[in-house]
Amino acid sequence: MNETWVHIPIMAAQIADMLLLNPGGVYVDGTLGLGGHTKFFLNRLNAQARILGFDKDAEALRMAVERVNDPRLTVFHASYTQAPQELKNLGLEGADGALFDLGLSSYQLDNPARGFSILHDGPLDMRFDQQNPLSAAVIVNTWPMGELERILKEYGEERNATPIALAIMQARRQGEITTTQQLAQIVAGVYGGKRGKTHPATQTFQALRIACNQELENVQQALDALEKIIKPGGRAAVLTFHSLEDRLVKNRFKELAKSGAWRLVNKHALSPQYDEVRQNRRARSAKLRVIERMK
Ligand SMILES: C[S@@+](CC[C@H](N)C(=O)[O-])C[C@H]1O[C@@H](n2cnc3c(N)ncnc32)[C@H](O)[C@@H]1O
Repeated sequence: MNETWVHIPIMAAQIADMLLLNPGGVYVDGTLGLGGHTKFFLNRLNAQARILGFDKDAEALRMAVERVNDPRLTVFHASYTQAPQELKNLGLEGADGALFDLGLSSYQLDNPARGFSILHDGPLDMRFDQQNPLSAAVIVNTWPMGELERILKEYGEERNATPIALAIMQARRQGEITTTQQLAQIVAGVYGGKRGKTHPATQTFQALRIACNQELENVQQALDALEKIIKPGGRAAVLTFHSLEDRLVKNRFKELAKSGAWRLVNKHALSPQYDEVRQNRRARSAKLRVIERMK
């Protein structure tokens, strides 16, 4: 494994300013990744503070522990949807703050062995959690045409969902589809080559990744359980990278604010500054929403 993988934490200073209201508090990093945000946060927190870090990816967790190297961090190889239970197990009534930096890390995307990359060939995997039996290959090779079409439409917002699903069904009759390049070529064939600036299979890869990892279900579940994660006076911050996720966050935050028990810290989603986007391309589509629990 290459230990030089990098992932630059996005909007770290803005998030720290808005989230870390109690320097000795308890915080949840729901998507620890390589620990970029957590490391930044710990530099701002005092010796009494604690961060509970969750990730589905055991390899990322191991690297995060090494990189952060701080006894104030406790890690869980689990979905962030387990945060309410883990807080309870520790006898905590809730956290002072929680961050959910959704999607995948640069380390996962750039590592061909993880099968997320359209550009580098690798096994058709795309699982955050290696123990998850549902890989992208299982979906592509075994799911019925209607299900493939549905995820391409719902999770990829792919306008060519039907012809792409058909092309996959046809290709898999010739033999199993096992690599990212095989799939990328099947989709490119439907588009008759490249389309604009992005690879024609971008939406298909997004759809498969979301389906494999139950990403939208997990986000919705965590949003529905925010009262069990954040204590009164605490805040939750969510960084999203596509409109499907952002819509869920925006709608749920609106509902919570309407209840009178929560307030939106920023009315509209915040985006990174131009300089950050210039230095880190992954930041270009980031949107940040923060909410505070008042009672
Ligand atoms: C964008 S990265 C986080 C990067 C991190 N903030 C940093 O600065 O290094 C997202 C991480 O969330 C993890 N992840 C995605 N869905 C998850 C879930 N439901 N529960 C826990 N971790 C999840 C992924 O495995 C990935 O490592």
